[in-house]
Amino acid sequence: MGGASQKTLNLKLKVWRQKKPQDKGFFMDYEAKGISAEASFLEMLDIMNEDLVKRGEEPVEFDHDCREGICGMCSLVIKGSPHGPDRAITTCQLHMRRFKDGDTIIIEPFRAKAFPVVKDLVVDRSAFDRIIEAGGYISVATGSAQDANAILVGKGKADRAFAAAACIGCGACVAACKNASASLFVSAKVAHLALLPQGQVERNKRTLSMVRQMDAEGFGGCTNTGACEAACPKEISLENIAMMNRDFLRASILES
Ligand code: SF4
Ligand code: FES
Repeated sequence: MGGASQKTLNLKLKVWRQKKPQDKGFFMDYEAKGISAEASFLEMLDIMNEDLVKRGEEPVEFDHDCREGICGMCSLVIKGSPHGPDRAITTCQLHMRRFKDGDTIIIEPFRAKAFPVVKDLVVDRSAFDRIIEAGGYISVATGSAQDANAILVGKGKADRAFAAAACIGCGACVAACKNASASLFVSAKVAHLALLPQGQVERNKRTLSMVRQMDAEGFGGCTNTGACEAACPKEISLENIAMMNRDFLRASILES
């Protein structure tokens, strides 16, 4: 189907290898030969791993699941950028046609104290789960679709809530930030509920709990560099951080 004319690439890969969390880790050089330009980046890694297995070497561990940009499982810092050089896509949506024949591609895990390396390119992002557990939900019963839709929401707020809810929890914002701040992720989760009527009851408590859990997990502070927004595959806006900060201040005053 691809035909004899299909373009292929020969690449040099520098891949982070780390056997276990306590190890220091190192870059290992590999070659990926005859890779179709139409292959996805993760398919290229699959091919690399098949070659390693054939040679009796241990394959490189990396996270993935849906491979269509919706689950947030894929990670990787590719050529210095979380999710690679293109904007607004995940690693699983990156294709090899983005690279040139003969390119050297450096592949690293997301690096942050709160995301410890488990093995090779896999990091532990359970800190995000604990932040969600701290308040990223509503306790009110909204009923089925028909009942929930009975509460009218203005178009502007609905659109902003929907845009914030697009966050897939991948963690690229943390990896891109020089402070390893999780503010973009947490603010997306805070904002999408704070903008809707159903999210009002627990709004103050939720913001305080989630922000405090973020700090407890060891993420750094936000200094508004905007690197998170630039790396985010879902283009989550910095406006959410401003909203979270306002909500946090108000909730702190009301609490004291
Ligand atoms: S804000 Fe963007 S980069 Fe951060 S976790 Fe959500 S989708 Fe990923
Ligand atoms: S594997 Fe699901 S978003 Fe990439």
